[in-house]
Amino acid sequence: MKGVGSGSNGNALDPDRRRFLAGLSIAAGTIAALVVAVPSITFLLGLRKAPNVWRRVGRLDEYRPGTTVKVAFLDPSPLPWAGITARTAAWLRRSGDQDFTAFSINCTHLGCPLRWLPEADLFLCPCYKDGRVASGPPPKSLIRYPVRVRDGWVEILTSPIPIT
Ligand code: FES
Repeated sequence: MKGVGSGSNGNALDPDRRRFLAGLSIAAGTIAALVVAVPSITFLLGLRKAPNVWRRVGRLDEYRPGTTVKVAFLDPSPLPWAGITARTAAWLRRSGDQDFTAFSINCTHLGCPLRWLPEADLFLCPCYKDGRVASGPPPKSLIRYPVRVRDGWVEILTSPIPIT
């Protein structure tokens, strides 16, 4: 009978089987290394570009003129394992019939999420309702996303969150 334990020392494998298992191990190791290395290298080299995508954030009639509300949308290119972190948000201000401004949810100082204070007409960290810096420490105005109205829907052109 041929198989495990049939060699001269009682433990040797068939040479063909040994070669097959060695090749299988090398192939599995190579695949595992590529699965880890390719995304890491493309990230480090900046080769992975998130596409800019128009995302619907609500019907036009959902927003009252003069108000600022938080809207949520899906990241343009979420990683397969991103889960709930693939969702992001923006502050959407309706200033006229078809006039909207969308601000990044993150402060330009350290990237902390902003809060909108309607009573004070301010974003905290302090920025005015139009995104200009009201006082330090934010180094510059809030980042804006392009906004458009299409077929009764308000849409935001997504882009990677700018890190300052
Ligand atoms: S994160 Fe906004 S002022 Fe520091």
